[in-house]
Amino acid sequence: MDRDDMQVLQYRVAEAGQSHLLRFWEELDVAEQQELYTDLKGMDLEEVGQAFQRAMTGSGHLPGQENVDARMEPVPREILGSTTRDQAHLPAWEEEGLLQISQNKVAVLLLAGGQGSRLGVSYPKGMYDVGLPSHKTLFQIQAERILKLQQLAEKQHGRKCVIPWYIMTSGRTMEATKMFFLKHRHFGLKKENVIFFQQGMLPAMDFDGKVLLEGKGKISMAPDGNGGLYRALGVHRIVEDMEQRGIGSIHVYCVDNILVKVADPRFIGFCVQKGADCGAKVVEKTNPTEPVGVVCRVDGIYQVVEYSEISLATAQKRSPDGRLLFNAGNIANHYFTMEFLRDIVNVYEPQLKHHVAQKKIPYIDVATGKPVKPDKPNGIKMEKFVFDIFQFAKKFVVYEVLREDEFSPLKNADSQNGKDNPTTARHALMSLHHCWVLNAGGHFVDENGTCLPAIPRCTDGRSDVIQADISHNLKDANDLPIQCEISPLVSYGGEGLEEFVKDKEFHAPLIIDRNGVHQLVKNGM
Ligand code: UTP
Repeated sequence: MDRDDMQVLQYRVAEAGQSHLLRFWEELDVAEQQELYTDLKGMDLEEVGQAFQRAMTGSGHLPGQENVDARMEPVPREILGSTTRDQAHLPAWEEEGLLQISQNKVAVLLLAGGQGSRLGVSYPKGMYDVGLPSHKTLFQIQAERILKLQQLAEKQHGRKCVIPWYIMTSGRTMEATKMFFLKHRHFGLKKENVIFFQQGMLPAMDFDGKVLLEGKGKISMAPDGNGGLYRALGVHRIVEDMEQRGIGSIHVYCVDNILVKVADPRFIGFCVQKGADCGAKVVEKTNPTEPVGVVCRVDGIYQVVEYSEISLATAQKRSPDGRLLFNAGNIANHYFTMEFLRDIVNVYEPQLKHHVAQKKIPYIDVATGKPVKPDKPNGIKMEKFVFDIFQFAKKFVVYEVLREDEFSPLKNADSQNGKDNPTTARHALMSLHHCWVLNAGGHFVDENGTCLPAIPRCTDGRSDVIQADISHNLKDANDLPIQCEISPLVSYGGEGLEEFVKDKEFHAPLIIDRNGVHQLVKNGM
């Protein structure tokens, strides 16, 4: 950069009220100066200032979001599909979904740009190994589910098909993610069908809108939230790529849910048959104080209301059937049609406000030049949320699934607390797979050959299917689930296991993968 470039930059930062960002310029070496110059040049400081103003007035909520309780209505039954309450429809939905997949009309979109700060690892969360017997990472599990689903659709409809996988990363996760996929040869998927793109970043600011410095020559930056998706889809021309491939339905999901049913044919089929342009998968919220956002209507418009936005009295309200009135727990698992997504990207995205998260953000004190590690929130990060677009749907639907079948997010480190950590994720997956074995007619025995109890929990409409109360077994086995892992390459959702397990007894650990059953089969029953 020459002197003129520098003068332009100084003018721009001064105009935006951010001159402090150049306070340590003279102390930086040439490489650091160049980096800071490039970062600032690429940043629209005026837009950042406007986003700050908009976000701080109304905290990023929809207009008039205050005192939302009185205006909330639960999801009406007519837009709701449920894996437990609509069992008779499941085969038709699944068939529709598999048909869509077989016609190459379904894509999946992974949100993997988060910083994973609570988990506390330096690499992208998708690379995390929760300690399953196979030591598969979250990325590998998801890739194998895609592979298996392609096979199932092919088998059903007799034609080869592809489910393209779009993966949103951020400045913090892009390189490592791409390298990981390369190293693992895209886990058997074709490279051209795994498409990476990068979301935007925004600077962290103090409460007065001053951008914070992470180092003397480094701006404190963070990804712009999972709702940064919509802008990134436009910037990187991903919508065009989807259109060229003839995609009609997109399943969007988060990287951290170990049970995620990627491109779930039942969910896709339900949304397609309902003629929906936007759908949300939910799990039933059963505890009023559970900190989960709920899908509902506010003044007639669908949205997610965060648990912190409603009173306890509202959270505790119950329907005549005894369920919580606002029980549609959002699990960031969405369906969009191509047309809807295109409209969001091209028309509505600029209308989405940033949400404000107050954070403890380490920074360089511009007065002293010393680094500060605050012990209480000192600034904000601005984020858009993936679900903020429900309001634009012409036909919105909700699809309720069982938590134990489909939702166990990895948020925290094992050391932090007992919720949503590697142990709970690992146990959730192994418990589900244990259920699959029991439902397919297999049994587990202890070291004495005594059958481990499987208390029937409920039937899923087919009289031969028993779901086991795994928690009973947890108590019997010192709170450890039975070690049981089934490769997604063998079964996507519990199907096709009879040939491996029916009328057989197993000792844990049991692993079933493409090479067969890794377990001493004692005898037939
Ligand atoms: P979370 O809100 O749980 O954030 O993301 P996180 O980054 O994973 O974890 P913390 O809060 O720093 O501990 C939910 C999903 O949204 C994605 C994440 O990768 C995860 O799949 N996400 C989040 C993005 O893709 N971009 C973002 O800017 C934020």
